[in-house]
Amino acid sequence: MKISIVGSGYVGLVTGACLAELGHEVLCVDNDTHKIEELRQGRSPIYEPGLEELVRVNARESRLSFSTSVQEATAHGTIVFICVGTPPGPDGEADLSFVEAVSREIALNMEEYRLVVEKSTVPVQTGQWVQRTIAHHVRSGVEFDVASNPEFLREGSAIRDFMHPDRVVIGTSSDRAASLLVKLYEPLNAPLLLTDINSAELIKHSANAFLALKICFINAVSRICEKSGADVVRVAKGIGLDRRIGVDFLQAGIGFGGSCFPKDVEAFIGISSKLGYDFKLLREVLAINQEQRQVVLTKLEASLGDLAGKRIGLLGLTFKPDTDDLRNAPSLDIVRLLVERDADVRAYDPKGMERARGAGEAMEVVHYCDDPYEVAENADALVVVTEWDVFRRLDLQRIHGAMRRPFVIDGRNIYDPARMRRLGFEYHGVGR
Ligand code: UDX
Repeated sequence: MKISIVGSGYVGLVTGACLAELGHEVLCVDNDTHKIEELRQGRSPIYEPGLEELVRVNARESRLSFSTSVQEATAHGTIVFICVGTPPGPDGEADLSFVEAVSREIALNMEEYRLVVEKSTVPVQTGQWVQRTIAHHVRSGVEFDVASNPEFLREGSAIRDFMHPDRVVIGTSSDRAASLLVKLYEPLNAPLLLTDINSAELIKHSANAFLALKICFINAVSRICEKSGADVVRVAKGIGLDRRIGVDFLQAGIGFGGSCFPKDVEAFIGISSKLGYDFKLLREVLAINQEQRQVVLTKLEASLGDLAGKRIGLLGLTFKPDTDDLRNAPSLDIVRLLVERDADVRAYDPKGMERARGAGEAMEVVHYCDDPYEVAENADALVVVTEWDVFRRLDLQRIHGAMRRPFVIDGRNIYDPARMRRLGFEYHGVGR
C-alpha cells in the first residue's frame, strides 16, 4: 500500500520505518529541511534503538523516502497519517494548530480518495473537527475519510512496541477506512479494536493517564514505605501479581517525565474541564509527580545540610534509558534545584549529554563527565537519575573509593540495599 506520514518525529518516523519494513511504500514528510536531509543521508535525527538501521535498509530498498512537501504526501499515499506535534498551549490544553494546518493543506491538495488518519495524541472530538476542516477545504466531489489510530510506542522500545503491540485501535465510522486500516495492520497479527473516533481518541488519553496514575500511586506508597519501614519493591510485586492490577508500571522512582505523560495528563485535564468535568484525580497525579522530584533534594539536605559547594554527581539525565530525550525529564528539575542551592553538579549520561547542554540555563552550569567514575570523584553524594544498564554494572568498590562521602541516592532502585550497605555506602533507595 502507498502510505504517507506527515510529521517525522518519534512517532512519525518509527511508524513510517516500520510500515516500510512490513512492505509498504512509505513517504515521510517533515517541514524541518535539516531533518529530512539527514534522513536522506541515512541518519536518524533521534536516538532510538534499531531505528537508524531500519531507515537505512528500507530507504536503500526504495520502500522509504523523504520529502518536505505535504502536497507530495497527499499525492503519494492512499492513507495519510498525521503525526505532527501537539505541544501544550499556555493553559495546558493541547495546541492543535499544526494538526489544523496539515489537515487544511492535505484537503487543498487532495485529488482523489484519501484516508486521513490522526496518530498524534489529540483531545477527544478532534477527529470530528479534522473532518469538518477537510470538508470545508476539499474540492467538491473528492471523497475522503478520517480515522483515529493512536500510537502506544514507548521511547527506547518503539520498534518492538510497533511490531508487537498489545492491541491496535482503529477509530472510524467508515467501512472503507476500517478495511484499509485492518489490511494495513493485518501482518502484525495483533488484536484489533474497531471503534468510533471519539472512543479511540479517549482510549489514548485514558491509557497514558492511567499509566501515569499507576506510577504516582506506587510513588505515594513509597513515601509510606519510607515512613513505616516497608519495602516498596516487595509491595509492588505483592499487588502486581494480582492480575487485576498487573506488575507493569509499578516501579517507584523519582517520577515520570518524557514527551507524553506530563503533557497528555495535562491536556486530558484541560479537555475534561472544557467538557464540564473537573478531573481532580489527575490534578493530584501531576502534583504527586512534581513532589517526587523534590524528594531527592529533601534527602540530600537531610544528610548533607546546606548544599552550597557540595559536589553532587548525577548518574543519568534522560527521562528514561535507551533514549537521548530530555523532555520533561526529572533531571531538569533536580539540576535546577541543586544549582539554585549553589551545589557543584556533575553528571554523566550515555546518550543525553549533548541535548542536556542545550536544555536551559541550569544545565549549562553542570560539569559533564566522560564516565560514571569521573562523576564519583570527590563527590559528596551520587544520585541515580536514570536506570541505564551501564549503571547497574558499575564497579561499586571503585565508586566508593572515589567519593568524598560514600552517599548514594538511588532514584530508580537499581541497587540492592543490603549489598550497598555491606560495601559501606550510606544508601537511600526510593521507598525501601
Ligand atoms: C509513554 C507510553 O508508555 C506510550 O504508550 C505512549 O504512547 C508514549 O508515552 P514513554 O513516555 O516513551 O511512553 O515511556 P514510558 O516507558 O511509558 O515511561 C514514561 C515515564 O514513566 C518515564 O520517565 C519512566 O521513567 C517513568 N516510569 C515508567 C516510572 O517511573 N515507573 C514505571 O514503573 C514506569
